[in-house]
Amino acid sequence: MKKYSINKKITIITICVIAFSGLFLFSCKESQKVAAKGGTQLWAENCQRCHNTPSPNTFSDEDWKTVGMHMQTRALLTNTERDKIVEFLQNINH
Ligand code: HEC
Repeated sequence: MKKYSINKKITIITICVIAFSGLFLFSCKESQKVAAKGGTQLWAENCQRCHNTPSPNTFSDEDWKTVGMHMQTRALLTNTERDKIVEFLQNINH
């Protein structure tokens, strides 16, 4: 009986270790996927959740920087994501 309960504990610990390493691997994969996203994709995915995507020609480079800051707080973007989107918009707005 005692032996059985130790085995059970080992089984539970093993399952936990496997589950956690699985979670760890998954989160690594996930963040790489996010990091690989370019400005175009981030813009398409994020900027029309709340309103129609404004045309890149609407604003100057300087204005896009300001809009980027403003919309970063609305869209809950990271600094990297915001920079990629702003860079994309600045590259095609003229
Ligand atoms: C969570 C909702 C939300 C998301 C996501 C969002 N916006 Fe907005 N956006 C707004 C709201 C609300 C306004 C109206 C102005 C205000 O009160 O902020 C606005 C206004 C704007 C304007 C008008 C100028 C300004 O700064 O007020 C532009 C341009 C704009 N958004 C661009 C973007 C871009 C580019 C993205 C993607 C990075 C984006 N938005 C993502 C909610 C959002």
